[in-house]
Amino acid sequence: MNDYGSLKQRFEAAGQEQVFAFWESLKAGERRRLADEAASIDLEEVNRLSKRLLHNSGSNAPGLDGLEPAPHVPHPAHGGDAAVWKEAHARGAKALRDGRVAAFTVAGGQGTRLGYDAPKGTFPATPVRRISLYQVFAEKILAANRKYGVHIPWYIMTSHQNHEATQAFFDDNRFFGLAPATVSFFRQGRMPAVDFQGKIMLESKCTIALNPDGHGGALRALVRSGSVDAMEEAGIDIMSYFQVDNPLVHCIDPAFIGFHIESSAEFSSKMVPKAYPGEKLGHFCRDKEGRLVVIEYSDMPEELAEATDADGQLRFRAGNIAIHTLGRDFVRRVGSGRSQSGLPFHRADKKIATVDSRGEPIRPESPNGIKFEMFVFDALPLARDPVIVETLRPEEFSPIKNAEGVDSPETSRNDQLRQWTRWARAARVDIPCDDSGLPEFAWEVSPLFADTEGEFLNKWHGLNPKPAIESGVVLR
Ligand code: UD1
Repeated sequence: MNDYGSLKQRFEAAGQEQVFAFWESLKAGERRRLADEAASIDLEEVNRLSKRLLHNSGSNAPGLDGLEPAPHVPHPAHGGDAAVWKEAHARGAKALRDGRVAAFTVAGGQGTRLGYDAPKGTFPATPVRRISLYQVFAEKILAANRKYGVHIPWYIMTSHQNHEATQAFFDDNRFFGLAPATVSFFRQGRMPAVDFQGKIMLESKCTIALNPDGHGGALRALVRSGSVDAMEEAGIDIMSYFQVDNPLVHCIDPAFIGFHIESSAEFSSKMVPKAYPGEKLGHFCRDKEGRLVVIEYSDMPEELAEATDADGQLRFRAGNIAIHTLGRDFVRRVGSGRSQSGLPFHRADKKIATVDSRGEPIRPESPNGIKFEMFVFDALPLARDPVIVETLRPEEFSPIKNAEGVDSPETSRNDQLRQWTRWARAARVDIPCDDSGLPEFAWEVSPLFADTEGEFLNKWHGLNPKPAIESGVVLR
């Protein structure tokens, strides 16, 4: 009880005593739960953020004055130097063979837009096998292991909500053929929601409204979970970062890794040209101090988003598809800093389930509070020599975010089908398609067969006899 007493006192001193409003009516177990949650909160941080973010629009976005488009390395298909890409590829492949690279997936989001009641990585993503996003990534990592003769460790950041379910999914599926010891799961941190007066909100009488602290929480969580130490011990100094929502991602991309190493970068990113001004992608820019920054789509003024070059292309066209390469020591530096020296928090006004003064549940119909989140791309301006590398959208980006419409399971499946069909047509296989390159039937290529057009052509030419590509065929 004494411990609880001092905890309550700290909350009172910070003006957050409402967290214990129902304390007297709670049973022992409920008190323990509330006290544990309360003890995990950095009160000083919450009060400082509330003070700062409650009194402005809270976007915490970098300044827009003197903003310029960020430079990037163009892809050979768009004028990039093929010889330079070949060198980068060779450099990255060597780092992979030397065991310097880990894969890292952020999967702590709540996936609200998809309306899927399980961890997003378990969502069936492909057109024929309907294998999960996690299996797609596992097969890509397995294929890279075979190619480079290594066991690439895979770190997966979960949330408190989906941690156990994620681990159970891997167990039930025998880690999709990966060695279980090479896959590590760790939970990201949480932040309490506050109301518009800056008061920490309760979710129920004995639980605090705690939420994942954003994918930028990855840097802290990588340090706190001991993952960064484990990487150092294993000789890993590079992390290949990707989101859980994009089945086209090249989880392990030697050329991208090679460019990162070449520039001695601490943080690197891939970009694709935006499809249209309002597309919901962050913009890579250079701020007036010359630092590279990402301006979120919601923070970009329309006139900048729509501005065009002399040649008619969007001026700020470099879209952030959330694929990065992170240096291990950089993650340690930014992730171990106390909050003030780490990543900034952003404010998001949300509908937050809570309780009224009698402890009765409230399900608000309009935003009643604020969530605090960090974004991983805010690490970009803190990094030395960051490099931005172009990739081809049809080959690498078709995320599953919404239940229907853009970025949905259907658009992603169709983009997968178009990709494999492009590869097959490059190998002179005749597949009937519509004008968009979508085949008339569903078929599938496992990443274990090929993950790029070049690999497909190699494998295909080596097949004798060659299978007929028809409805339901899976090449693996
Ligand atoms: C994100 C990027 C946007 C980028 C787009 C590309 C932000 C704010 N914006 O948008 O710049 O162009 O992806 O697809 O991120 N996650 C966590 N923990 C969290 C929150 C999210 O691990 O606390 C993970 C999710 O599981 C997911 C990823 O981060 O893998 C993206 O989250 P999401 O909220 O879907 O970002 P978007 O708004 O789609």
